[in-house]
Amino acid sequence: MLSTDDILNLENLSTEESLRFIAEKFPEGAVFSTSLGQEDQVITDMIFRNKMNIKVFTLDTGRLFYEHYELLSQNNARYKTKTEVYFPDANDVEKYVNEKGINAFFHSVENRKECCYIRKVKPLNRALEGTKIWITGLRSEQSENRESMKMIEWDETRNLFKFNPLIHWTYNDVLKYIEENKVQDLPLHKKGFISVGCKPCTRAITEGENPRAGRWFWEESQKECGLHSK
Ligand code: ADX
Ligand code: SF4
Repeated sequence: MLSTDDILNLENLSTEESLRFIAEKFPEGAVFSTSLGQEDQVITDMIFRNKMNIKVFTLDTGRLFYEHYELLSQNNARYKTKTEVYFPDANDVEKYVNEKGINAFFHSVENRKECCYIRKVKPLNRALEGTKIWITGLRSEQSENRESMKMIEWDETRNLFKFNPLIHWTYNDVLKYIEENKVQDLPLHKKGFISVGCKPCTRAITEGENPRAGRWFWEESQKECGLHSK
């Protein structure tokens, strides 16, 4: 568990030190979810290079880009370790697709949220079962909804701590770390895809656009899938 002093102390540590601190505080249960995006590649590099005792997993929605799979296998080769992969329940996907259509998420926000729930949120909840602390690559700069997030918070719904070690990082900090440490990232980023999710639901952005404008680009919604919001 974390005391109030531990929580205050986290803010004074470097990101790498903070991850090490969390790994030591939760020897049985710290887990990190990676989307294989740039922020997550930074955290993955810190965890694997320093052989920290933190489980790393990704959610394969079945609708990712080919580049995600390439990067996943490159990571496994480079760090000589494995990122665990969680899949959606096959019955859920079959029912949704056969009743609503293979690309039904384009037809309404409700359909889209249901697809995200089946392919992301439910598998995430399964991956987090029994976990006391969940590490993410969220940054406050990413969206209005994320501005108020803290480095460490209590997730009431899932009954665990959520640790966001990059919450105060800027996008330039992320790029700098990637360059200095020769971290591999998705080739898509150089083609204008900044925030990358499933292939059908992500487009490249143009200069000056909000980085999340490319996610669920046809919607006027809050651009969240339910992993980090209700
Ligand atoms: S999302 O909610 O809009 O999809 P975003 O892509 O910004 O999230 O990623 C924010 C954080 O959510 C990532 O740093 C990661 O911790 C987690 N995350 C998002 N997508 C996945 C995924 N497919 N697998 C594992 N973790 C993910
Ligand atoms: Fe489904 Fe699109 Fe959500 Fe992926 S991002 S789970 S394809 S609605």
